[in-house]
Amino acid sequence: MKKNPSLAAINTEHGIGSMPKAVSLFSGCGGSDAGVTAAGFDVVMANDVLAYARDVYLSNHPETDYVLGDVAQIESFPGAQLLVGCYPCQGFSQGGVRDPGRKINTLYLEFARALTQIKPKAFIVENVSGMVRKNFSHLLTDQIKVFSEAGYSVKYQVLNAADYGVAQERKRIFIVGTRSDLGIEYQFPAPTHAPDARTTIAQALHGMEEWPEGEFYDREFHWYYLSRDRRRDWHEVSKTIVANPRHMPLHPMSPKLIKREHNVWEFEHDDARKRRFSYKEAARLQGFVPGMIFPDTPAGSLDMRYKVVGNAVPPPLFEAVAKALPDVWD
Ligand SMILES: C[S@@+](CC[C@H](N)C(=O)[O-])C[C@H]1O[C@@H](n2cnc3c(N)ncnc32)[C@H](O)[C@@H]1O
Repeated sequence: MKKNPSLAAINTEHGIGSMPKAVSLFSGCGGSDAGVTAAGFDVVMANDVLAYARDVYLSNHPETDYVLGDVAQIESFPGAQLLVGCYPCQGFSQGGVRDPGRKINTLYLEFARALTQIKPKAFIVENVSGMVRKNFSHLLTDQIKVFSEAGYSVKYQVLNAADYGVAQERKRIFIVGTRSDLGIEYQFPAPTHAPDARTTIAQALHGMEEWPEGEFYDREFHWYYLSRDRRRDWHEVSKTIVANPRHMPLHPMSPKLIKREHNVWEFEHDDARKRRFSYKEAARLQGFVPGMIFPDTPAGSLDMRYKVVGNAVPPPLFEAVAKALPDVWD
């Protein structure tokens, strides 16, 4: 795809001064990077193994140099003041196989390799909150040890996207490091939206089509789906948007789910129309901007569209975390 000049390049050309640079790893379709960009950074490089994540990313942020492939194959990284990365979480997540020994859980070492090479002033990592669970604590401890030994002062905290203007309950751990020689202390951002002033599903989906045929997963609601309440009302925040379309929460125009017995729920009106959120609605509930482009490329199956959206970090949440970094970029 043709590259546009980056904002930093345009600014420099017009003598406005350049924006601080960021390098992104495990970048997916660009949720974290949309937040980093909104916080005032120029993302000079991004990377992921998923072709459709790359396609979506470049359709929306064509100025970034997106390297498609295994991070382990990248020998050298460009210089940057900020490094961000959200290594995969299958080992820790509610939906994944909870095996603390899986190889996928050691991808943070690739992040640490980039950190040691780039030596940015700060870094931000996002991962599922399951990492704070007792049986995974050794992995979290190890990450903090590795990042501290690389010369960073490290802090972590679990944040809920709903507290930062996202219309979704989504608790994630953020690990933030500032280079020790800078002698600064990072403070996590205070919530911007009180529990009674959260962005609702109705607000996030305002103006969207009622039955966007072809954009939602319309297979049956299997027993596992109906083993819990998957529905929230228009005036509430959504349940967590997941990467697997089979488990996508119900759209509020669907009938209520009524509990029949332990782990067994039924639709209040079984004959009424019902559906899961579409991938475009899921993107809005993640806090992506209206008008986000999902290109029709060979890798863009419906499942893959849901996957890259569900994997993403809500941009407003990442923006809040990045904006809370002290201004040390000159
Ligand atoms: C939690 S998602 C990242 C989401 C992304 N930061 C966003 O906000 O859209 C983790 C990503 O790591 C990618 N990944 C997994 N193994 C990888 C590897 N070896 N090299 C590069 N990327 C990898 C996955 O394809 C997935 O997109």
